Amino acid sequence: MNKKITIAIDGFSSTGKSTVAKELAKELEYIYVDSGAMYRAVTLFAMQEGFVGTSFFDLGSLLEKLASIQVSFQINTQTSNADMYLNGINVENEIRTLEVSNLVSTVAANSIVRKKLVAIQKEMGKNKGVVMDGRDIGTVVFKDAELKIFMNASADTRAERRYKELKEKGQDVSYEDILKNVVDRDHMDTTRVDSPLVKAEDAIEIDNSNLSRKEQFEMILKLVQDKL
Ligand code: DC
Repeated sequence: MNKKITIAIDGFSSTGKSTVAKELAKELEYIYVDSGAMYRAVTLFAMQEGFVGTSFFDLGSLLEKLASIQVSFQINTQTSNADMYLNGINVENEIRTLEVSNLVSTVAANSIVRKKLVAIQKEMGKNKGVVMDGRDIGTVVFKDAELKIFMNASADTRAERRYKELKEKGQDVSYEDILKNVVDRDHMDTTRVDSPLVKAEDAIEIDNSNLSRKEQFEMILKLVQDKL
């Protein structure tokens, strides 16, 4: 039997990290963890409590309640995907809205929030056999991951993909708003002080602007097989 490894997939928003990470986990029978969903769930909690909005962020109140926030994944038997649960409630759809996307980078910039979620992520991957995607997986969460991928694509390509995805889900969004969200999040995620999005020195960079989903999957699967 092949040994189990840790696969860290980082990169800019809407680069298709989760699509390829899910496909890999399925192929390898590994656990897939969407770390962004965890930051989104904490952001949704802050929104529901009225701690964060477009022009305010009551960090103190969020931190006071942080210990009571439970984030977990549970397999959805219909889709076979792991859905995000916030304090026992399925919030998989709620965390994917543009409203959450517009606020998540503000919440994710906080070190205390990050410390809580990074501890959970490390625990999830402690036995290896995990594919985790995010922004700091190869640089902070699993510095010793056997395979690190850094995904990139042009902002236009990413905004177009995200626009299609949200439209298909029936959300009323404009392309301009999505592009702005992509560009703003790139800026916030790369310039924050704690665990900014950067390519790990030992990560392999893939620009998938001109790659099909299948080509990308096969390219990364080959990289995995070289490590087994
Ligand atoms: O992967 P995503 O777009 O769903 O992530 C949402 C946000 O969460 C992203 O803009 C920044 C933050 N994030 C993070 O700071 N660290 C991670 N490991 C994953 C996501």
